Amino acid sequence: MPPDATRNWTTTPRVLFVYYSYTMQTQKVVDAMSDVLRAAGCDVEHARIELTDPRYAQRFSTFPLRHVYRDLFGMIPAQLRGATGEIEIPEAASEGDYDLICIGSPTWWMKTSMPIRSYLTSSAARTVLRDRRFAAFVVCRRYWGFNLRAVKRLGEQQGGEYVGGTHWAFAGGQIKSLLALLSYLGHGENRNRYLGVEIPPTNLQADDLEDARAFASGLAAGITATRTRTEGLRSGTG
Ligand SMILES: Cc1cc2nc3c(=O)[nH]c(=O)nc-3n(C[C@H](O)[C@H](O)[C@H](O)COP(=O)(O)O)c2cc1C
Repeated sequence: MPPDATRNWTTTPRVLFVYYSYTMQTQKVVDAMSDVLRAAGCDVEHARIELTDPRYAQRFSTFPLRHVYRDLFGMIPAQLRGATGEIEIPEAASEGDYDLICIGSPTWWMKTSMPIRSYLTSSAARTVLRDRRFAAFVVCRRYWGFNLRAVKRLGEQQGGEYVGGTHWAFAGGQIKSLLALLSYLGHGENRNRYLGVEIPPTNLQADDLEDARAFASGLAAGITATRTRTEGLRSGTG
């Protein structure tokens, strides 16, 4: 069924952000994009997924990580097999009729993080995504491709229509960006050196947030165009 066949437009377009964020980089993108969408007249809801699974949640309950190597590398087996776990889903991401759902997905061990994978395979996601449009964005140190493709695939499997995606990655080459991230996750701040090596700043920079605002502008224009087209078809003028 085309996404708009079951739509009953309210006066204000509604946008939902579903995301997970441990170090708050995804949150920053969500906030920057939300400002733009609200300025464009949208009603914007945030649904931050929490990882509550007793097998994994404890390590992410504090920042910085208590045992950076053990906590990070300990996630490898679950991440590589694409495991899901217990999560808490805010009500806004369990029900509701949205013009657009934006999925904010950090990369964990090359893949979609467990909390977002768990949401995208839940019945709540099916309720919200079915016959609705969704966009996705990845925030990562370097590896976005597998993650973005998985979010697209899982969202489509839940009946959503993918309208586009993008990503943001951090500065530095393979080794130095990794050292910078390890330093940040272990110390909770950007430092100039780690293990005696000079490192770049990790995390998003001001330009990245400008790009996030531009991406959101495109999504806002898409919402307006969809509504105009549908109203035109319904009234016979389109
Ligand atoms: C457990 C864990 C594993 C990660 N694995 C990867 C990875 O394989 N590739 C990558 O590019 N970034 C990886 N990162 C970096 C995150 O994608 C990056 O820190 C991002 O900012 C996380 O989003 P957040 O700040 O919203 O939590 C990993 C981070 C964590 C915490």
